[in-house]
Amino acid sequence: MRILKATYGSSDHALDVTERLQGLVKNGHLFLTVSNSLFSDPCPGRFKTLRFAFDLPGGNQFYFHEVEEHRIVLAPTVGTKLAPESSAAARYLDLLKQCLTRMIFHDLDPSVDPAQREEGHDWPKEGETMVGLRRLDNVQQCIEDILRSKVPGDLLEAGVWRGGTTILMRAALEAYGDRGRRVWVADSFEGVPKPNAALYPMDQHDALWTFQELAIPLEQVARNFARYGLLDDRVRFLKGWFKDTLPHAPIAQLAVLRLDGDLYESTMDVLRPLYPKLSAGGYAIIDDYKLIPQVRQAVDEYRGEQGITEPLQDVDWNAVYWQRAR
Ligand SMILES: C[S@@+](CC[C@H](N)C(=O)[O-])C[C@H]1O[C@@H](n2cnc3c(N)ncnc32)[C@H](O)[C@@H]1O
Repeated sequence: MRILKATYGSSDHALDVTERLQGLVKNGHLFLTVSNSLFSDPCPGRFKTLRFAFDLPGGNQFYFHEVEEHRIVLAPTVGTKLAPESSAAARYLDLLKQCLTRMIFHDLDPSVDPAQREEGHDWPKEGETMVGLRRLDNVQQCIEDILRSKVPGDLLEAGVWRGGTTILMRAALEAYGDRGRRVWVADSFEGVPKPNAALYPMDQHDALWTFQELAIPLEQVARNFARYGLLDDRVRFLKGWFKDTLPHAPIAQLAVLRLDGDLYESTMDVLRPLYPKLSAGGYAIIDDYKLIPQVRQAVDEYRGEQGITEPLQDVDWNAVYWQRAR
């Protein structure tokens, strides 16, 4: 076995570890326990991925969190020996992300620029999500971590548009055999609210409420779930303005809370009722934190008010997340 290329790190900061990994191949076998002691840590505290290609047929990639160790054994006689279910799950979720973003047939559709779509820079004509691959990877990694660490609670996105990110959430539960958690799909299904300038002056010039393309009816989002065979009673729709639906939503506990509501109001109206329900070890993910100043202001104010000091981690050029410590 020969290691052709290996990298270790996060999406925006990875080390080339080809030589290090090749040095671990003994008699054509690679026995590997992945942990931070194996390579130097390129980005402490963040999710890291070891990706490598080798000269057996095929290739593979492994996701892990730095506090955990996963034993991987590759041997030429048996090909890739990864727990079959995790390999199939990872492949299913990769394929799904390609479908949700419509990256999959980009060579057949000149309107798709894969580089833009990967980073979630454009609003897809047909895809079920606009957040791009990097942010979908982050959602998947957070879910994988809460499942591994058995952090209790459901998954929720507030601001779902065509539903793609929540479809990935439901798929990840299915892929990893979770039998109880629910996915909450919260949206007006009528687009972004008109700014309430009296209460939230920072939103007053926002024009997103005029964008009809952000108003996706619930029935269409439900059809999108059904298209992937993922519409069932563990998918719960919360229809209405966040300020009306979320304070009384029958949610006991959350393990992943993702915000994508674009306004100060739409961010505060989610954090206030729902952050207290986020379990220790769970993840808060904030889309547009780096793009929309009102979103950033709401998050910074809320964190300040509540004394939240867990560091913000970058997802990509746009989003951030943090893991709740207590
Ligand atoms: C940018 S889109 C979300 C994109 C989505 N996360 C994805 O994966 O493509 C913003 C969504 O937030 C919803 N929204 C914004 N503010 C809201 C509010 N206060 N109450 C309910 N829905 C809201 C809009 O209807 C819209 O669907």
